[in-house]
Amino acid sequence: MMIYDEFIEKFRTLQHLVILTGAGVSAESGIPTFRDALTGLWAKHDPYKLACAEGFVADPALVWGWYEWRRKKVLRASPNPAHITIAQLAQRIPKLTLITQNVDDLHERAGSQNVIHLHGSMHNPRCFKCSQPYIYPDEIDDDFDDSIPEQRIPPPRCNQCGDVIRPGVVWFKEQLPALDFNLAEVACTEGDLLLVIGTSGMVYPAANLPHLAHQAGIPVVEINPNIDSFNSISDFHISGKAGKILPLLYQAAFEDLAN
Ligand code: OAD
Repeated sequence: MMIYDEFIEKFRTLQHLVILTGAGVSAESGIPTFRDALTGLWAKHDPYKLACAEGFVADPALVWGWYEWRRKKVLRASPNPAHITIAQLAQRIPKLTLITQNVDDLHERAGSQNVIHLHGSMHNPRCFKCSQPYIYPDEIDDDFDDSIPEQRIPPPRCNQCGDVIRPGVVWFKEQLPALDFNLAEVACTEGDLLLVIGTSGMVYPAANLPHLAHQAGIPVVEINPNIDSFNSISDFHISGKAGKILPLLYQAAFEDLAN
C-alpha cells in the first residue's frame, strides 16, 4: 500500500499516466451518475427499457426522447475542475491516455484530446440499420423542457436508407468498439500508473481494465468519495470528489515544486 508522499513523488515523475473515468467525473457538472442511491439514473429509470436494443425496437420514441433529455442536460452543462485538471495534466506529463466510460463530451470541452470513449458518445448518433452517421441540425439551445426525462420524441430518419436513427452509445449486451477497447487494454499494461476516477466498477468489460493494470504490476490509484469494487486491488484510495481532489493533486505534484 502506498502512502500519500510516495504517491505524489511517483506522480511527479510519471512518463505515461493512464486515466479511467466514469460518471462520477461529470457529477459535479450536474450530470447524474447511474448507481448513486436516489440520484443515479438507474435508481429512477429502467435500463431494460432505455438502454438496450430491444427497448429501442419496442419504443424508439421513448428511448430517443430520454437520450435527448440527457444530451440537452450535457449541452447546458460545463466541464468541472476535474475535467479541466485532467486536460492540464496532459500538458505536464509526457504521455497521458484518457479512457472514459462516459458518453458526454465534457472531457473534450475541457481540452482533452484523443479521448477513448469505451461506451460511445451521445453526440454521435447513427442509423439503427445501416450505421450511417446522423448529423444534428445546427441547434441553438431551444426551449426543450428538461424537467421531463421520459418524453416521447420520434427519432429522425436516416437520409440513406430511411430507417430510424439510434443514439451512438453502447447499450447493454452490445460489444464495445473493438479498436478503442484494444487501445485501452494496451495502455493499461504499458502505463506507469492508472488513476481510476468516479466509476463503481460494476460494468464489464470496462471494469476489467484496473484488474489488467494490477496484474501487470501497474499501481492503481482511485479517486472516489465511496469505496467501490476496485478496493481490493487499488494501491491507494483518495476519498473525495474528483473536482476537489484533482486540483489539489495537481497543485501538490507540480505547483508546490515551483515554491
Ligand atoms: P456509476 O454510477 O456506476 O458509478 C459512479 C461512481 O462515481 C460511484 O462509484 C460514485 O461513488 C462515484 N462518484 C460520485 N460522485 C463523484 C464525484 N464527485 N467524484 C468522484 N466520484 C464520484 O457510473 P459508472 O461506473 O460510470 O454504461 O457506470 C458504468 C457504466 O454503467 C456507464 O458507462 C453506463 C452505465 O450503465 C453504459 O451506458 C453502457
